[in-house]
Amino acid sequence: MDAPRAAFAPLGLLAELTHRCPLGCPYCSNPLELDKRSDELDTATWARVFAEAAGLGVLQVHLSGGEPAARRDLPEIIAAARDAGLYSNLITSAVGLTSEGLTRLADAGLDHVQVSIQDSDAASADLIAGYSGAFARKRALAADVVNLGLPLTVNVVVHRANIDRIGSMVEQALALGASRVEIAHVQYYGWALKNRAALMPSRQQVDTALIAVERLRQSHCGDIVIDAVVPDYYARYPKPCVGGWGRRSLNVTPSGRVLPCHAAEVIPGLEFWNVRDRSLSEIWHGSPAFMAFRGTDWMQEPCRSCALKGKDFGGCRCQAFLIAGDARLADPVCHLSPHHDALEKLAAIRDDSTYHYRKF
Ligand code: SF4
Ligand code: FES
Repeated sequence: MDAPRAAFAPLGLLAELTHRCPLGCPYCSNPLELDKRSDELDTATWARVFAEAAGLGVLQVHLSGGEPAARRDLPEIIAAARDAGLYSNLITSAVGLTSEGLTRLADAGLDHVQVSIQDSDAASADLIAGYSGAFARKRALAADVVNLGLPLTVNVVVHRANIDRIGSMVEQALALGASRVEIAHVQYYGWALKNRAALMPSRQQVDTALIAVERLRQSHCGDIVIDAVVPDYYARYPKPCVGGWGRRSLNVTPSGRVLPCHAAEVIPGLEFWNVRDRSLSEIWHGSPAFMAFRGTDWMQEPCRSCALKGKDFGGCRCQAFLIAGDARLADPVCHLSPHHDALEKLAAIRDDSTYHYRKF
């Protein structure tokens, strides 16, 4: 039997303020169909959403995009998060945000900044971002964050072109004064799925990288926190994606649709409610999309009778749909899934031609 309603209380809100972004990263987690600027929620609606999120128990808001600094009202949005009592984390590409702009955000109450840096090699970083000069601007903004006394996390998205430089990317984060570095292997949804053959590392690269991360953790213990998200195509068990569907987090898209995860719109037949029409509480507790895979009652075999179903929640619903064709099935990452072989075959496909850059 499923857990009672009180067991599902969100802690984090991902606020996708805009899909606009000057960069073109080929692994962008935004959908292929981007929300238009004219459809974006206004400042007052975001302020209401933050207040309602706090009422639901949310503690942190991740201000993301696209590039959130593309919103001219970002200081007001941050002030609204502060007024709602939320810890605010800005996830920025750093391009399009000046030192003065960052100071305004700090004055508005910003608590934390995550800067994505594509590589430790400037030419490679700019190639991946699809933006000449991005690397230098990212490093400059990271320095500004530290000078303002804000905590800095450096995000590194890892794939075939940069996975062999994990060590130097961690050294770069340390040199920039970051207190945390997040090494996240590409997750294959959205633009990353479109670019999978160009991004997928080999199993040997991944194994070497995992050893490197462990060594880095030991050698830099106490200097920097190193978080690592493993590439699940090479795993035997799936990740508990988003901490379980509709359990701990929610996404609001630029135009106000509320999603259980950033990729949920790939699953056909789900009905997403919008904050323009309903309160966040009504959506969290009753939206058909949130109810679809909440708890464990929806599970099929092998998950239904598996001892791990309350730990990994059957893995990722979006990946189950994208690879196995049915979101109710076990994530094919699981070696118990009859579709696991298909995943291994997909991981072996290589294409070194060119990236399909994300375009707004
Ligand atoms: Fe997780 Fe399902 Fe695999 Fe069990 S069978 S480990 S619940 S994905
Ligand atoms: Fe949608 Fe994993 S990305 S459930």
